[in-house]
Amino acid sequence: MKKILTAIFTASIIAFSSPTVFSAEEIVLTNNGGVPSLRGLVEISDVNKAEALKKVPREQHLIDRNYVQQPPLIPHSIRGYQVNLNANKCLSCHSFKNAGAMGATKVSVTHFITREGTTLSDVSPRRYFCLQCHVTQADAKPLVDNSFTPVDSLR
Ligand code: HEC
Ligand code: HEC
Repeated sequence: MKKILTAIFTASIIAFSSPTVFSAEEIVLTNNGGVPSLRGLVEISDVNKAEALKKVPREQHLIDRNYVQQPPLIPHSIRGYQVNLNANKCLSCHSFKNAGAMGATKVSVTHFITREGTTLSDVSPRRYFCLQCHVTQADAKPLVDNSFTPVDSLR
């Protein structure tokens, strides 16, 4: 009986607080194989409360690339920019035609090449959905440490 009570008590501690350091007993009592994840020590079936969305700065400096083939990060907010069958807001500033007047970087010439290697007179369908590759950046703490260092030529 005492054991069961202790178990219930410990389980409720796990359920109602978000501990960062877990005792061996807590780990055994959780049904996820004893693996605390980035979500904390929670049951796989539990749904965590969603984090608040990070705020993307409206404008920031161009962000250095870490490797040569990296799609450059988007240094501005893209709130409300639509990319669909009828319109591509990104190209209203980044197309070859508009970039000069808008002070934006032209899309790369690689974006005109189809997967068969043919160069088209406009952005290739495989480069149409810009956000497939280009993403905005917010000031967020990395979830996991990373020891990646850029190649010498980019340092
Ligand atoms: C209102 C005009 C405008 C729109 C719309 C726009 N951009 Fe930009 N974008 C800019 C300007 C201006 C810069 C900064 C150029 C500079 O500072 O040299 C920029 C920079 C960038 C860069 C960085 C380029 C580099 O060399 O580092 C990327 C990537 C980018 N935008 C992608 C996008 C994507 C994807 C969209 C659509 C979701 C988009 N932009 C919509 C104006 C725009
Ligand atoms: C499949 C991935 C992919 C898609 C989709 C894509 N890009 Fe890129 N983009 C890249 C990569 C990779 C680079 C860097 C290498 C290069 O120039 O090809 C790049 C480079 C750029 C640059 C910098 C060019 C320069 O001269 O420095 C701009 C601006 C850009 N892309 C805008 C866009 C816009 C706008 C769209 C949507 C119309 C788009 N990209 C779609 C992968 C992509």
